[in-house]
Amino acid sequence: MEKLDESKFEQRLELLALRIPRELASAVTRLLRSGYLLDKPRVKPVVEDPEGDKNRLVILSERIQKPDLSDMSQQALDSLKQLCNVEVVPYTLTLGYSYWSADHILKRILPAGVEVPSSFETIGHVAHLNISDDLLAYKDVIAKVIYDKNYPRIQTVVNKVGTITNEFRVPKFEILAGKNDMVTEIKQYGATFRLDYGLVYWNSRLEHEHIRLVSLFKKGDVICDMFAGIGPFSIPSAQKGCVVYANDLNPDSVHYLRTNAKINKVEDYIFAYNMDARVFMQKLMTVPGLETRSDSQVATDESYSKEGVPPNEISSSNGNHNGAFFSYEIPIHPWILSVCGPHTLTV
Ligand SMILES: C[S@@+](CC[C@H](N)C(=O)[O-])C[C@H]1O[C@@H](n2cnc3c(N)ncnc32)[C@H](O)[C@@H]1O
Repeated sequence: MEKLDESKFEQRLELLALRIPRELASAVTRLLRSGYLLDKPRVKPVVEDPEGDKNRLVILSERIQKPDLSDMSQQALDSLKQLCNVEVVPYTLTLGYSYWSADHILKRILPAGVEVPSSFETIGHVAHLNISDDLLAYKDVIAKVIYDKNYPRIQTVVNKVGTITNEFRVPKFEILAGKNDMVTEIKQYGATFRLDYGLVYWNSRLEHEHIRLVSLFKKGDVICDMFAGIGPFSIPSAQKGCVVYANDLNPDSVHYLRTNAKINKVEDYIFAYNMDARVFMQKLMTVPGLETRSDSQVATDESYSKEGVPPNEISSSNGNHNGAFFSYEIPIHPWILSVCGPHTLTV
């Protein structure tokens, strides 16, 4: 495994600076801004003078090398001389590990020609990397650089291990840097989503699809979200005043769906279920009193309900839902969301 030696990134620049009275610092920097002032991201060009508080040092650009300032234009030099008595002093600037960007550092550490993995998906405080097999020997060093350069926004760096094989569509992760905590919060279009990224499905890149679909709904619509996850369709729909029947097979997703309904104060609009979507749909379409024999067999099959409760008796998040999914006393035209893969079915 590669180790990170931060001292390797130290670079000393031998520069020149002007010693000027501190009250002239703004005027002098304005005058030198046309290419004569030090211009480096995150480095201030005006610094304390180690010889006293009356003066400041204004650091000049690397291209000014001559102590008589003859590599400046005569006009700029004349203006400077009109402002103050010009004293030029040597100045050593040391740029260290903290100065360089993740991309710069990784390019120097990784073998030439490889694609530098300095970008990542952000899920709250978690950075999700997908490190390619040829860079696995560098995974710890990559994670440390990503962590160092993005802390405190990023506090946990994870890498996906293997391919997704489970039906909940949750990858296996290894934590490479930071704290061992994948419970985090995300904000999307005014809603807050809490989730454990190690236990439930989440994909930040679906934000536009979430917004697009929810924009189709109107207050009072009935939404049936068959593969609801932690609620990126259900919660904003409920916020719009829709009544939402939300289901997911993953009990952890349903736990966070209910948590998110509470956080966003829409628990009165969301009925959360934990069952197979096929059963959910069957129950959804069953008019109370007209159940067929096969339907009642399904309803008593506990394997469909993680909580061991027949699906049509699972209580809602607010506890006042009495068994049948819909009240058929009111005319309903529900939207059925089947967003598991790329398809959305609306009825
Ligand atoms: C691709 S995710 C989409 C989740 C959510 N719609 C979103 O956009 O974040 C698919 C979801 O379907 C759930 N799921 C997989 N198989 C299921 C099944 N047979 N019945 C119900 N939910 C299922 C998974 O647990 C997962 O949360």
